[in-house]
Amino acid sequence: MTRRYLAANWKMNVPEEGVDVYVERLANWPVDPDVEVIVAPPFVFIDEVSRVSTMGDRSIHVAGQDCWEADKGAFTGEISAPMLAANGASYVILGHSERRRIFGEESSLIGRKLAAALGNELVAIFCIGEEESAREAGETLTVLESQIRGGLRGLENARSVLVAYEPVWAIGTGKNATPEIVQETHLGIREILEAVVGTDLPILYGGSVSPANAEELAAVEGVDGFLVGGASLDSSKLESIYRSLSR
Ligand code: PGA
Repeated sequence: MTRRYLAANWKMNVPEEGVDVYVERLANWPVDPDVEVIVAPPFVFIDEVSRVSTMGDRSIHVAGQDCWEADKGAFTGEISAPMLAANGASYVILGHSERRRIFGEESSLIGRKLAAALGNELVAIFCIGEEESAREAGETLTVLESQIRGGLRGLENARSVLVAYEPVWAIGTGKNATPEIVQETHLGIREILEAVVGTDLPILYGGSVSPANAEELAAVEGVDGFLVGGASLDSSKLESIYRSLSR
């Protein structure tokens, strides 16, 4: 049985049920040792989530939603990888399409952030994904290859990376990629990974994952888990997605 991953990306939101209640509920889900649960709250809740997360039968892993490339210094507004680790995080999301698009993050910066994360013993959830125009133009794999090369080339410890394939057109739109698209693209990503880092890595799918489509997407060959945004803000929706990964 291979390991699978369920990562909850709250983005700049807080679950309505409250942080403590949410995490306690997750901590009391039936334990499946093959499914790793990761919660990525806004920075200010990392400490709280990691304190509550060990209370139930299972431990929840905590992720930052981003980090800066340097360990410390004059970088107003930023958080470093060692700061995340010191507050209980063991993962960090990097290269999310919102960071790339809204905050103008380029592949070279994302690559340096990945190095900082891995150098500080964090596992990186490295996001890649094409815009709708690229898919329509048949350029999906070209875009993904350039993102993968920018992020992972020359990286030591690439084994501590989970790749999250998140087509930009599927994020927050309610329009998930079809199982056929996911299967074909994950396969293409694996070939690129083999060429660039010489190893296979877990690949999560993200983009409008919900209780309605999780079962079908979890059954797709080559899907090692999900990165969930909107639906992750409700612990009962997230539980239903978790159950689809727990085979
Ligand atoms: P979504 O977001 O599930 O709301 O589409 C996914 C993500 O951006 O990680």
